[in-house]
Amino acid sequence: MDDIRWGIVGPGRIARGVAADFEHVPGAILAGVASRSAERSAAFAADFGVEKSYGSYGEIIADPDIDVLYISTPHPQHHAIALAAIAAGKHLLVEKSFTATVAGAEQIVAAARHKGVFVMEAMWTRFQPTMVEVRRRVEAGEIGDVRAVQADLGVDRPYDPRDRLFDPEQGGGAMLDLGVYVVSLAQWFLGTPEKTHVVGSLAPTGVDMEAAILIDFGDGKAASLVSSLRQASPGSARIIGTKGVIEIPPRFHHPASATITVHGQEPEVIDAPPLGTGYSHELIEVTERIKGGHTESEVMPLADTLTVQRILNDAAEQLGVFHSEDDSVDV
Ligand SMILES: NC(=O)c1ccc[n+]([C@@H]2O[C@H](COP(=O)([O-])OP(=O)(O)OC[C@H]3O[C@@H](n4cnc5c(N)ncnc54)[C@H](OP(=O)(O)O)[C@@H]3O)[C@@H](O)[C@H]2O)c1
Repeated sequence: MDDIRWGIVGPGRIARGVAADFEHVPGAILAGVASRSAERSAAFAADFGVEKSYGSYGEIIADPDIDVLYISTPHPQHHAIALAAIAAGKHLLVEKSFTATVAGAEQIVAAARHKGVFVMEAMWTRFQPTMVEVRRRVEAGEIGDVRAVQADLGVDRPYDPRDRLFDPEQGGGAMLDLGVYVVSLAQWFLGTPEKTHVVGSLAPTGVDMEAAILIDFGDGKAASLVSSLRQASPGSARIIGTKGVIEIPPRFHHPASATITVHGQEPEVIDAPPLGTGYSHELIEVTERIKGGHTESEVMPLADTLTVQRILNDAAEQLGVFHSEDDSVDV
């Protein structure tokens, strides 16, 4: 099959990291980049040797020469772009958090399934070689029945109301930006929860600054998680089973190694660094799945994305943070 032709929508900070990793992705070409400003997309295209640049999102969505779009705008702007792109028959990789609201996520999933295009949330953690091996060990039963997941992810971000992370219009707050990693990890190993409990604090703009989240997965299985913009917590994780434990060192969301300790045995180090910065692995997944004619990833399926989104919005709303989609985006 021909190479898969990728386009980027929203050439901001993360898009630069992802663009640099395309050199590690066989069968994929970064062929286009779209910004709300023709100057910004042209500058990005020049930096990364991208063939085409567009001065609006609508132009790249309408271009039949592009197969798949990577949406790297802030969370509330994913919804309108994704729906327009799906209607145009584009496959999608959508940055985390998938959307700002549960209803928005459900609409994208329904539209993707109706149209038969591939859509995946860009939860790159699940594709890191170390995490792939961790998952394999857990599925093989090496640590027994998983009973608990513990994880934290915090940064010490100076308060600035114009910063995306503190701006409600850009889906600010720790929950959608960092909480999504700890919640997605818990959901991957523990499934669908029964109840979520949360305590936290808010920034002056009204977005969540930090949260301690306790998720009840039934029968005593639980996840205890922390996300914060107020403290640079280490960013480590533990998966605890009846027969052993897997410890993922900082920063657990893109690890180069992990340690598995089965009770009564010596600890074993899983050493599997990522290719490039580590975004390459999710790009490989999407490229290969599209080539194979699939509409979802088995590793990051849309059902998991919906479950994670429900937990995130539930937790945010318990803290008094009610996100909304920005459907004013020009597509
Ligand atoms: N996987 C990861 O490691 C990782 C890390 C950081 C962030 N992310 C995710 O990536 C997304 C973007 O984060 P970022 O840090 O790259 O943000 P950013 O630097 O602010 O870039 C976002 C881009 O989106 C476009 N955009 C469209 N509508 C916008 C609006 N109303 N306000 C602001 N920008 C708008 C802008 O590009 P134009 O105006 O030029 O079109 C902007 O450059 C978020 O969903 C975030 O969670 C992922």
